[in-house]
Amino acid sequence: MKKMNILITGGAGFLGSKLATKLVYLGYNVFIVDLQFYSNDSLDHLISFDNFHFSKSDIRNEKIVKKIVKNMDYIIPLAALVGAPLCDKKKKIAVDTNVNAIKKIIKFSKKKQKLIYLTSNSGYGIGQKDKFCDENSPLNPVSLYGRTKNESEKLVMKRKNCVCFRLATVFGYSFRMRTDLLVNNFVYTAMSTNALKIFEGSFRRNFIHIDDVVDGIIFSIQNFNKLKNNVYNMGLSSANITKLELAKKIKKFIPKVKITKILNQQDPDKRDYFVSNDKIERKGFAAKKSLESGIIELIKVFKKNLKKYKNNY
Ligand SMILES: NC(=O)c1ccc[n+]([C@@H]2O[C@H](COP(=O)([O-])OP(=O)(O)OC[C@H]3O[C@@H](n4cnc5c(N)ncnc54)[C@H](O)[C@@H]3O)[C@@H](O)[C@H]2O)c1
Repeated sequence: MKKMNILITGGAGFLGSKLATKLVYLGYNVFIVDLQFYSNDSLDHLISFDNFHFSKSDIRNEKIVKKIVKNMDYIIPLAALVGAPLCDKKKKIAVDTNVNAIKKIIKFSKKKQKLIYLTSNSGYGIGQKDKFCDENSPLNPVSLYGRTKNESEKLVMKRKNCVCFRLATVFGYSFRMRTDLLVNNFVYTAMSTNALKIFEGSFRRNFIHIDDVVDGIIFSIQNFNKLKNNVYNMGLSSANITKLELAKKIKKFIPKVKITKILNQQDPDKRDYFVSNDKIERKGFAAKKSLESGIIELIKVFKKNLKKYKNNY
C-alpha cells in the first residue's frame, strides 16, 4: 500500500518535532517546512530516515506554499508565532504567519487533501466562569495570538475536509523545548528558584501531555472520516485543576519549593474554566498521561541541564 505523504509546517517546533518523529517511525512520508527560529537540531535524529524530508523555507511565501502542498495527503499547519507576548511584539508577522499563510494553504490545496488544524482552548472562559466548556461554548480570545488562531480555525472549518483540535495547555519534554507553558514553567521555576509565586491561584485550567497530543493527531489521521469537519477539545479529563492545585502537585516532587500566594496581581490570560473532552472521547480517543508522570519527566530533563532551558521562548 502507498504510504501517505504528510506535510507539517512548523515541524521543527515543540509539537511538530515530536509529531514528526512518531510519524517517521510509523513509516509515513513526512515533509517538514520550518524556518527553525528556535532550534536547528530538533529533527537531527530523523536525518538518516528515507521517509523524512526537510526544507528550511518560509510558509508566508506564496510560491513556496504552492510547491509544498502538492502531492500531500495530509497537511498539518503548525507554523505560527505562538503565544500572546510574541504576537504582541511582532503583530504583522503574527497575522501573516497565523492567518495569511493558512489562507494560502487553503488556496493552493485541493479539496481532497486533508487538513488537521490545532488551536488552543484559551478563548473559553472569558465570561464563562462557572461553566464546563464544550465545543459550543463561545470563544472570545483576548489576545492577538488567540484571535489569529480562532480566525484560522474558522477558515479551515469553512474549507472542509478537516479536523480541528482545541488543545488544553500542553506539558512535557520535546526536542525543541518550551518553558513558557504553565506546567513546564512551574517545574522549571520551582527547580531554578525553589519558589512558586502564584497569582489568581484559583483559576482553573485543563492540561495535556505532548505525547497524548501526538497520539490524538495520529488517531485523527487513522480515523479521519469518522472525525472530519468537526472541532474537538483535546485535554486530559482528570487534569482539570487550579493553578494552586498544580503548584501543590509539583511540591510533592520538589518538597523544598515554597508556594506563595500573590494577592494583587492579575492573570492576563484570564483562563478560568473546566473543559469537557467528551466529544473526542466518544469518538474513541482519550488522553492518558498523568500530570504526575509529566512532572517527573520534566524534573529529570531540567536536572540534567537547567541552564540550557533558560528563556527558550
Ligand atoms: N504548544 C501548545 O501548547 C499549543 C496549544 C494549542 C495550539 N498550538 C499550536 O500548535 C502549533 C505549534 O506550536 P508549538 O508549541 O510547537 O510552537 P513552536 O513555536 O515550538 O513551533 C512553531 C514553529 O513554527 C516555525 N515557524 C514560524 N514561522 C514560520 C514561517 N514563516 N515559516 C516556516 N516556519 C515557521 C518556527 O520556526 C517553529 O519551529 C501552533 O500553531 C500553535 O498555535 C500549540
